Amino acid sequence: MKEPQFSTRVIDTGFARPDAHGATALPVYRNAAFEFPDSESIAAAFRGESGRHTYSRISNPNVTAFEAKVRAASGAESVVALNSGMAAITNLFFAIASAGANIVSSPRLFGNTFSFFRSLAAFGVEVRMVDAGDPAQIAAAIDERTCAFFAELVTNPGMEVFDLPAISRILRARGVPVIIDTTIVPWCAFDPRKAGIDVEVVSTTKYISGGATGTGGVIVDHGTADWSRNPRLAAMPEPPGGVSRLTHKLRTETVRNLGAVMTPDTAATHSLGLETLQVRFERMSASADALARRFEGHPRVVRVGWPGLDSSPCKTIADTLFTGRPGAMFTLSLGSREACFRFMDALGVWHRATNLFDNRSLVIHPSSTIYSTFTPEMRAEAGIEDDLVRFSTGLEDVGDLAADIENALENALQK
Ligand SMILES: Cc1ncc(COP(=O)(O)O)c(C=O)c1O
Repeated sequence: MKEPQFSTRVIDTGFARPDAHGATALPVYRNAAFEFPDSESIAAAFRGESGRHTYSRISNPNVTAFEAKVRAASGAESVVALNSGMAAITNLFFAIASAGANIVSSPRLFGNTFSFFRSLAAFGVEVRMVDAGDPAQIAAAIDERTCAFFAELVTNPGMEVFDLPAISRILRARGVPVIIDTTIVPWCAFDPRKAGIDVEVVSTTKYISGGATGTGGVIVDHGTADWSRNPRLAAMPEPPGGVSRLTHKLRTETVRNLGAVMTPDTAATHSLGLETLQVRFERMSASADALARRFEGHPRVVRVGWPGLDSSPCKTIADTLFTGRPGAMFTLSLGSREACFRFMDALGVWHRATNLFDNRSLVIHPSSTIYSTFTPEMRAEAGIEDDLVRFSTGLEDVGDLAADIENALENALQK
């Protein structure tokens, strides 16, 4: 039989039937601890030999089922779920970085990721910011102490897309793992392996949660990274069962020690969200496409940012990376912060809120919110412009969304 397609895979994975009561979805195991009939069986479970759960900070049936669904969606070798996208990013770097190591990264990052990278200096980890649009800069920045390259698949809110296959060829030849935050475009619209990505981090708070039902994150390990030059991972004994060194370290040390695990309730809601991801993404991204095209060239709009537009400098690479549209986030540059504020205050359908890919459409001025604690130099390095409004397109009628923007541009920005 033909390999099942995306939505079939995510719906049919992660729940070993039959449930005792014939439930159609996995019931929520909201307990902290699991009991055992005798001492040897709990000892075997702690040795990882029986696959049984012992304690929900270590593993839980709902979290394991969610991880299996994400594996089916992404094609990854293994997946570790945490309680936010930032927990995924911080746990991953706690596992692979060490004093004296460096990370080579694009500076065009979500604000908290940028801020976290700054804080790594206190632990002796250097973050070398390079223009990821110029692979030569990446090649020049890496050395034998580089533990990873990091960038976002579509930068938030800069809307840039880098030539990841070309970058990956350079990095893999030098034994440097390619770690990409793929939050902005889900797997039904791109193939991470074709892009040359070794490890993904994703905020499941966004598309996957099924309507902003709670925060969550995943570390998605494709098992392709070369860890032989990483002093911490190379020093580990060979993990059992063909698991990668990274996933083994995360599961047996980093994630359980730091304790930022996904809760069973979040795993259950995000599993449901994953089941409807493709239909929601197709609708949201089609609306973003229509809105970006409609407002490009509008007399009150300086620039529209969306990598699917013919005018985008990233259109060619976006066309090769993505099998669907490049996300449901777009930006409008309106000339000044004051214009952005007046425009946003005139909106009635769009919600002023800081999140992405909720069922409702959201709008925010990143410079005065997400990046408000940054110095002007940090904002400049991250490419944050003061006249930019970021839109996350939801599931409302696209005509209503367009009319609301049109009305606010006409009435709030007149002369
Ligand atoms: C690209 C990107 N990565 C990571 C995060 C962090 O995710 P979370 O809010 O789930 O911690 C966000 C949040 O907006 C994001 O946009």
